Amino acid sequence: MNNIKAIIFDAYGTLFDVNSAAKKCKDKIGDKWKHFSNFWRITQLEYTWLRSLMKRHKDFWQITEDSLDKSMKAFNIDHSMKNELLNLYKVLSPFEEVPETLKILKQKNYKVAILSNGTPSLLSELVNNNGLNNFIDDIFSIETVKIYKPSPKVYDIPIQKYKIKKNEIIFLSANTWDVSGGGNYGFHSIWVNRGDNIFDNLDYKPKNQIKNLSELLKLV
Ligand code: LAC
Repeated sequence: MNNIKAIIFDAYGTLFDVNSAAKKCKDKIGDKWKHFSNFWRITQLEYTWLRSLMKRHKDFWQITEDSLDKSMKAFNIDHSMKNELLNLYKVLSPFEEVPETLKILKQKNYKVAILSNGTPSLLSELVNNNGLNNFIDDIFSIETVKIYKPSPKVYDIPIQKYKIKKNEIIFLSANTWDVSGGGNYGFHSIWVNRGDNIFDNLDYKPKNQIKNLSELLKLV
């Protein structure tokens, strides 16, 4: 991997813990909080894919709210909690190892960036609130192309900006289908397998998988 010039991260689930919003409300939601959180996330992703196919774009914040509405109904969660959950989604926690790993990558002089479904304002709030702004060169949002991952148009955004070759980019995601999307596009895609999950059959198998982002430092 001597030719790598840029290291690009997915945001939700990779740098930031999407379960941290519901987890902070677990006393109010009860034991079902984790199932509810997974259902919300899956519904949110389904809406990104379905809206891309239907060519009826809504931004990620609106999709997050729409999918929350459905999930709260499905899990009988009182409507009064909606704003609390939405506000917590704006301040998701990063995974523990994220700040230190990004800092070291910057010291190694890589371009470090985010490529995400999130809106530019949601992403910059997450980055700034968590003190990561000094370690990230660019935040690339699908709002530039208004179609969601895994459209190749999305993975093309950083190539247009950096004018480097596809295989000079390492792309990391905890979302298996996003690893496949970036890999099929031509990135050196790495799977961040935080649990003991199973990979997809979508024409790409990553050469590397890591358990957390610190393990990336052994590869670059
Ligand atoms: C993102 C989703 C896929 O940040 O996690 O793009």
